[in-house]
Amino acid sequence: MASTSVLLSKTILASVVLLATVCACTAVSPHAAGLSEDFYDKSCPQAASIVDAYVTKFLEKDRNFAGAFNRLQFHDCWVGGCDGSVLLNSTETNQAEREAHVNFGLRGVAEIDEIKAALEHFCPGVVSCADILILAARDATAKVGGPTWSVALGRRDGVNSSALMADTNLPFPVLNFSGLVANFAAKGFGAREMITLSGAHTIGQSHCNGILPHLYNFTGRDDANDTDPAMDKNFAVFLKKLCPQGNRTNTIFIDSTANTFDRAYYKNVLQGKGIFITDSTLITNPVGKKVVTKFSKPGSSFFTEFAAGMVKMGNLGVLTGTEGEIRKTCSRLLRQNLGLESLKLDDQEFPNSAVAELVVPADESRSHRELAPAPLARNRSAVPASHPNGSALRGVRKLLFETLSCALQDLSLTQGPVSSTSGILTFYVQIVNLCGACAMADIHVACGTWAWATPVDPFVFTRLVYNDCLVNNGQPLSSQGGVSFQYSSSAMYLMSIAIATH
Ligand SMILES: *[C@@H]1O[C@H](CO)[C@@H](O)[C@H](O)[C@H]1NC(C)=O
Ligand SMILES: *[C@@H]1O[C@H](CO)[C@@H](O)[C@H](O)[C@H]1NC(C)=O
Ligand SMILES: *[C@@H]1O[C@H](CO)[C@@H](O)[C@H](O)[C@H]1NC(C)=O
Ligand SMILES: *[C@@H]1O[C@H](CO)[C@@H](O)[C@H](O)[C@H]1NC(C)=O
Ligand SMILES: *[C@@H]1O[C@H](CO)[C@@H](O)[C@H](O)[C@H]1NC(C)=O
Ligand SMILES: *[C@@H]1O[C@H](CO)[C@@H](O)[C@H](O)[C@H]1NC(C)=O
Ligand SMILES: *[C@@H]1O[C@H](CO)[C@@H](O)[C@H](O)[C@H]1NC(C)=O
Ligand SMILES: *[C@@H]1O[C@H](CO)[C@@H](O)[C@H](O)[C@H]1NC(C)=O
Repeated sequence: MASTSVLLSKTILASVVLLATVCACTAVSPHAAGLSEDFYDKSCPQAASIVDAYVTKFLEKDRNFAGAFNRLQFHDCWVGGCDGSVLLNSTETNQAEREAHVNFGLRGVAEIDEIKAALEHFCPGVVSCADILILAARDATAKVGGPTWSVALGRRDGVNSSALMADTNLPFPVLNFSGLVANFAAKGFGAREMITLSGAHTIGQSHCNGILPHLYNFTGRDDANDTDPAMDKNFAVFLKKLCPQGNRTNTIFIDSTANTFDRAYYKNVLQGKGIFITDSTLITNPVGKKVVTKFSKPGSSFFTEFAAGMVKMGNLGVLTGTEGEIRKTCSRLLRQNLGLESLKLDDQEFPNSAVAELVVPADESRSHRELAPAPLARNRSAVPASHPNGSALRGVRKLLFETLSCALQDLSLTQGPVSSTSGILTFYVQIVNLCGACAMADIHVACGTWAWATPVDPFVFTRLVYNDCLVNNGQPLSSQGGVSFQYSSSAMYLMSIAIATH
């Protein structure tokens, strides 16, 4: 007991010191040695914009990916440094980080791999999974209303990933204040930074798994009444409905405004509405309570301190130069991919296999583009029977191994009202081809009885017949390309992508 209280008073002291020096902390150069903001400017100038476009796409599908990407950065950096190791799959001989108890319900891994596939298409072997993850966390935070920050790039991917290491390093959601302070101190972060980064719980969702101890096992009695006594009574009733005793797999939002990065998290914690023990424990310490109170108020420095914390976290244990590797697929080590690449590609494997469908000889796609507004359709019978030459073969390899292809879902259509002063209702429509692999043409949109009060350029968007509108006059939208327009009408037409050729 004595040693505990000594530890506790030391931590309080440490956090008091931190409070005093926080401004100096944020002034420190944010770059780890070997990283730079312009790292990919020559080797892959479009890297950041590709990541950004994909993050937009994922958030359109589910804004909660913002929480997922944030958690991924934390769970990657905290375990052996920011080296993309959290993305690796287990193998027959290794239990990877993803399998750790603390990583229960980890989301966003497949999405990072999708971004990686696009980057491999444009700049093979250049952009690390570790950097993609850092960029995705940054972009997603900003897109849901949070702060943004500049990131230094050039991290390389690690080759070790251990479930045990993850469970040893990451904080379990049952830690009390001093437990959290000690966990963060081990990575060089102070109490105030711990409280700041806990603010990431302003977005996202969680399985009930980590919440059950807060509701049913607070003192280890493990019964229906063993709830954190500091929890707001009505909130406890509400939470217990969402997370019945023993139900680890239900999913709930972890903040009252879980789709928006804001200060609500701190307000909730102050009102006894912290979801995890690690949330409500923040105000069990006087210093913690002061910081939480401060961050809960408009105009506080929460956003800027959060940004600084994420930058600092992103510098943990980075591999640079010739350390580590640049993976081809984020979920497997390079050598596992190289094993695949030793497969032979020869005549026999071509014309009749599914691979043949992916072959678009360079010559042919060029003539398509020059001569015809026609879609860049893949014409199976147009595949030459002869063996393609070296450069065509590389194209095939790329397509085969990274299994790039485009689907209708890669076309994103966003629409909404435009604020207008004239009193006439105006709406915008934006259609973007997010597929990293190919152009898409002949895009048709289900548009009902769409009509406009003021003309829209028919080459951009025109109604052919009922519920069939043609985009870009049928011409291809290049990869990452798009069109947008506005229309005036008495009501918004709900539109969706119907068909396209790719
Ligand atoms: C990694 O594991 C996931 C599911 O656990 C699987 O869908 C994916 O294909 C695996 N990736 C590789 C490269 O084997
Ligand atoms: C990480 O991987 C390297 C290279 O394979 C190896 O030498 C090292 O021992 C590993 N470290 C851990 C902690 O497993
Ligand atoms: C925090 O948790 C640790 C480890 O479970 C325990 O030893 C310590 O007494 C706790 N501190 C407080 C203030 O409850
Ligand atoms: C409840 O807490 C006790 C003490 O921390 C622990 O031993 C037990 O496994 C917990 N029970 C459940 C169901 O998590
Ligand atoms: C929980 O508390 C309620 C009301 O105080 C009581 O009726 C019930 O028996 C208690 N349950 C357990 C498992 O202690
Ligand atoms: C958890 O609860 C949900 C609904 O409340 C239910 O559909 C699901 O089957 C439960 N799962 C378990 C493991 O109890
Ligand atoms: C496919 O190619 C063949 C031979 O060049 C041609 O006759 C046919 O019209 C093409 N089909 C399509 C859908 O373009
Ligand atoms: C291979 O094909 C490409 C594209 O058609 C062409 O530019 C290149 O010159 C060809 N190379 C050889 C060695 O034939």
